[in-house]
Amino acid sequence: MKKEPLRFNKDGKFKIMLIGDLHEYYDMKSDNAAAKVDDTLNLLTKAVNELKPDLVIYLGDNARAATESQMRSIISRITYPVSVNEIPFDLVFGNHDRECEVPLETQLKLYQEHENCYAFNADDSISGCGNHNIVIKSHDGEKDMFNLWLIDSHNLYEDSSRSYYDVVHEDQLEWYKKTAKELAEKNGGKPIPSLVFQHIPVPEEYELLREAKPHERLDSVQGHKTYSDKYYVLKPQVEGYLGEAPAVPDFNGGEFAAWKEAGDVLGAFFGHDHMNDFVGFVDGIMLGQCKTASFRVYTDGCRPGVRTITLDENNIENVQTKMYHFKDFGLKSKSLDPYMRHVTDRQDMKLKVYGTAIGTVAAVTAAAVAVNKVSKAKKKK
Ligand SMILES: [Fe+2]
Ligand SMILES: [Fe+2]
Repeated sequence: MKKEPLRFNKDGKFKIMLIGDLHEYYDMKSDNAAAKVDDTLNLLTKAVNELKPDLVIYLGDNARAATESQMRSIISRITYPVSVNEIPFDLVFGNHDRECEVPLETQLKLYQEHENCYAFNADDSISGCGNHNIVIKSHDGEKDMFNLWLIDSHNLYEDSSRSYYDVVHEDQLEWYKKTAKELAEKNGGKPIPSLVFQHIPVPEEYELLREAKPHERLDSVQGHKTYSDKYYVLKPQVEGYLGEAPAVPDFNGGEFAAWKEAGDVLGAFFGHDHMNDFVGFVDGIMLGQCKTASFRVYTDGCRPGVRTITLDENNIENVQTKMYHFKDFGLKSKSLDPYMRHVTDRQDMKLKVYGTAIGTVAAVTAAAVAVNKVSKAKKKK
């Protein structure tokens, strides 16, 4: 079905809302599932109603099911808050989306059963599922103003001795370069400003981090795989939160270099790392994380959230982005206990580490006092 082209609003703005790592699945009985689903759907509903996005993008690790009919119902569940408001949505697939019995091609068709789904597969001959781009037209519909790339970043790499996670493949990059060139040609030879959306981040995210000093160790994260010999914190100019190591591929597939060469990409946004929501610039390109919006997965206390990206056709290179967490909407969790409603998982972990350290010091001190008392008592004899 032919979709209405996306357009900037009359005020020149266009707002995208990102939903990361829902990991929604069929089981509604075990592990406090109903309360967790309620929390997640309340977040999505509130976010859609308050933020009023023009487009919603699901950033991968969206859904898991054993059968096609289960998958249909899960997709309906996670897209309902968006569809009921007739807001267009798009999506990329994540590594866990392929760890279920329903193939990606079938999942894509199930999403496409929803009239407001803009996802499709641009080229069946290239790697992955659902690679495509969509253009946003000027408010009067006359001009192609902005472009969005939605890229499949796959799952694990075929040779685990070289990398744990896969990279975006060469044939995808060739498709990207060819399509970006065609768009630029239609635009009088000038690249169309673009953003990239994909599940697994590019290795360049580590350029937003610096090695932690010894006294910062408790506030740092240990790098992932290739980067695991160091602990990291965010560089000062990077905004947001680093809750875990960016789980990037262990070698560079050249995607970031391809963006620089084509000259169209202003920024790229990723999911995959459920606790991270930082954003910063590498070589002038904005790299942003969106943390999970779900209470069904490992997360960060009361801080699952969504990210908005606001574009302005009158100032096209000015991309504004902001995270909105569950607690920012004034929502109260049904699934978290009162303690976890007030701390994040990272804070909880740190408190435990401190608690253990204090406990150990107290135990050592008590033991020393006891030994001292015994030796004094012995001396008295
Ligand atoms: Fe995930
Ligand atoms: Fe993932």
